[in-house]
Amino acid sequence: MKFISVAGIKGGVGKTTTAVSIAKILADLNHSVLLIDSDVGLSASYKWLHRNPDYPWGLQVRKWEEVRRQLEQNPKHLQEQGLDYVVMDTRGSEDIEELVTLARQSTLMVLPTKPDGLSVEGLKDTLTPLLQHKVRNFKVLITDSPAHNSDGKDAQDELVAAKLPVFASIIRRTEAVSKAATQGVPIKDARVYKTLKDDNGEYKVDSEGYLIQKSSGRAHNAVNAWLDYQRVVQELVQQLNQTAAHG
Ligand SMILES: Nc1ncnc2c1ncn2[C@@H]1O[C@H](COP(=O)(O)OP(=O)(O)OP(=O)(O)O)[C@@H](O)[C@H]1O
Ligand SMILES: [Mg+2]
Repeated sequence: MKFISVAGIKGGVGKTTTAVSIAKILADLNHSVLLIDSDVGLSASYKWLHRNPDYPWGLQVRKWEEVRRQLEQNPKHLQEQGLDYVVMDTRGSEDIEELVTLARQSTLMVLPTKPDGLSVEGLKDTLTPLLQHKVRNFKVLITDSPAHNSDGKDAQDELVAAKLPVFASIIRRTEAVSKAATQGVPIKDARVYKTLKDDNGEYKVDSEGYLIQKSSGRAHNAVNAWLDYQRVVQELVQQLNQTAAHG
């Protein structure tokens, strides 16, 4: 069982989006996946998956509080579930001790950051104590990278130059991401459309004003962030298999 935590001190940097997407992509690859939500807020992953109970997620999602209680009764509780992956979504927290403990329990800790100045500053606040505690099993992921500037690539280059582990795949800013959360579906199935009316009737147009074909309201740009997350999972699986092979 591999344990992937998604963490960081700063809020709003894409942790939940990352945890939900990684968990779903692993499940789509026929792995047995449990997504644990240690956040309680409205925007957390437990709520995301429960907004649309009909969607075939193909994975389990549970709240950390409940899992923790079971683990107190039986420390092997998770091992006994026959899981391939446990993915944990966390809340932004300043509690360094908690962060270091979580990292030590993780097979890999993913640290998402947006490429803007404040988020990168927040990332440094996360990295400094981890490095001080000699934690190295983390990997930074640049999320929500806008297409109109090179901020994402610049942030990535800076991390590479500082010899910090960073995913090669950068998650592009994609309108469907926030829709996916409110619609309770993975990014790939989010719908982004507006309805326009004129004398001849009603039309559904996508976020860029193109007419959407009948019945398919799927966001044509939803594929951007989804492809990027698929590449992240490829990197992740490869790295975890290598680590396993080298003991
Ligand atoms: N690739 C992306 N494209 C567009 N918007 C994005 C992208 N990634 C994240 N966002 C948006 O950024 C916001 C924060 O994302 P998310 O909720 O995943 O972050 P978080 O770190 O879990 O936040 P919190 O600290 O509140 O738990 C959301 O509105 C989300 O839709
Ligand atoms: Mg969150």
